[in-house]
Formats: sequence, structure tokens, C-alpha cells
Amino acid sequence: MQILYDNKDFIKDSKKFVKHLAVIMDGNGRWAEQRGLPRWKGHEMGVHAVRRLIEAAGHFRIPVVSVFAFSSENWKRPEREVRLLFSLFRRYFLSERKNLLRNGIRISVFGRRDRIPEFVREAVTTLENETRKCSRLHLRIALDYGSRHEIVEAVHSLVRDVVSRKIMPEQITEELFSESLSTADIADPDLIIRTAGEHRLSNFLLWQAAYSELYFCPKFWPDFSEFDLEKALADFQSRTRRFGALVASNIYQSDNRDASSEAV
Ligand code: IPE
Ligand code: IPE
Ligand code: MG
Repeated sequence: MQILYDNKDFIKDSKKFVKHLAVIMDGNGRWAEQRGLPRWKGHEMGVHAVRRLIEAAGHFRIPVVSVFAFSSENWKRPEREVRLLFSLFRRYFLSERKNLLRNGIRISVFGRRDRIPEFVREAVTTLENETRKCSRLHLRIALDYGSRHEIVEAVHSLVRDVVSRKIMPEQITEELFSESLSTADIADPDLIIRTAGEHRLSNFLLWQAAYSELYFCPKFWPDFSEFDLEKALADFQSRTRRFGALVASNIYQSDNRDASSEAV
């Protein structure tokens, strides 16, 4: 793999370092349709793009990557497509094992586990256990995931704790709430990339995205390459994140303005 960007550029300024990258992988179907191919071919090619993404993310030393593979709303698709997607996921989990272990990649799946087919759940659980100690990169795969459902589940669990008097309602803070989500112990995504030219989150990590930088790429997911990731990271680096506060240069300007208005 050829990447022009120098890793060190990403590490020099720790504030500009992506600690958690989230990706909404969209456009598999359109990629295939554009070529007169069945939609499943697009999904199949999408798996290769995931491999490229992970390899490139490792190169850029991004420690956590969350990818949206199947949303709670994707059950609305034709049964045949859903079935095919799940057999593709299973094939990925089984075939990728050696490669993941060799490259120190930990896999975990988040989303509702109770509705995914048993044959996928089994493969997932095995791979999660086997890669538990891998520490170079953590790949989190959203399967049957919907952010609103995740939030409602967190509410259920906190309400249960209140009812059983484990906590007082006042103890429910933003921090405690965050700990009740799938991302407990994981930093909020610094950068969220969505492909296929769509400009929406489609129920992905809504709570966690409060201050994420959003990057939209017009390419369909199967065409997304290491160079597109590099472009997204370069764009991220050029941005100023304020989190509602003033950045250093603005503080200086604002102080000067306050002083001059007092002088008038
Ligand atoms: C993304 O590609 C993969 C999944 C949602 C499973 P799509 O299947 O949504 O592709 P388009 O958006 O129809 O082109
Ligand atoms: C979002 O893509 C979900 C995944 C990438 C898995 P969709 O294609 O399902 O989203 P919408 O329907 O265009 O919002
Ligand atoms: Mg889509």
C-alpha cells in the first residue's frame, strides 16, 4: 500500500490526532447498479474496501475504528438481500481470523445481538474472544445497530438502577449516561466519514457525534481507498475544533476587543 502522508504529521499535534474514526459505509448497491451488476456484488466489493480501510487506519495509527455495517432500519430491505448480507458478514468473520490476529486487530460488534442470525452470532462471539488481547487497532462493527434504540436501552438500564435504589435520579449525569452506551470507555468519534454523497447520520452514534467532525465523500463505498482516507484525515487536520469555547487566537482577539470597548 502506498500512502503519501507521513504518520508523524498526525502525531505531532495530539489535538489533531484521530483517536476514534467512525465510517458510514454507503453506496454498495449504487456501485453495483451503475455497472449493471446485482446489488450483492456491491456488498462483496464493500468487504474489500473494509480491508483497505483497516490497513490504512493501522498505518495512520488510529486506535479505534467503528464501521456501520447493518442498521436496525436495514431489516426493511428485501429478505434475500438481508440474508445475503448476513452470510457475507459470517464469511468475513471466518475468513479474516488469521489476518486480524497477525495484524493485532481486535474485533467487537455492537448493536442488538438478539435479532441477528445464530450462525453470525456464533462466528462473532468466537472472533471477539480470540482477538480480545489484540491491541494495535480496535475494529468495532455496528450490526443491527440504531442509535435511538441504544439510547432507549440506556434509559431502561438507568431507570432499573433508580427503581432498585442503586442510584438517585440526580446521579444521572452525561458521564453516567455515556457509560451506559456501547461506547462506554471509548472516546467519542473525532471524525465521521460518510460515503456515496449522502449528508446524514442515518441513526449512527447520535449521542456520541455531538462534537464529531463530519466528512462526506462522493464515492461509493466499494471505491473508497486509502487515499480517500488520507484526504479525509488531511481535511480533519485543517479544521479548528472549538467545543463551544474560544480557541487561543480568538481569546487574544476577544480580550483586545473587550479592552478597547472599555477604553471608549
Ligand atoms: C451500504 O450500501 C451497505 C448497507 C447499508 C448494508 P447500500 O446497500 O445502502 O447501498 P445504496 O445506498 O443502496 O447504494
Ligand atoms: C446507512 O446506510 C446504514 C449503513 C451504512 C449500514 P443506509 O443506506 O441504510 O441509509 P439511508 O437509508 O440512505 O439513510
Ligand atoms: Mg444506502
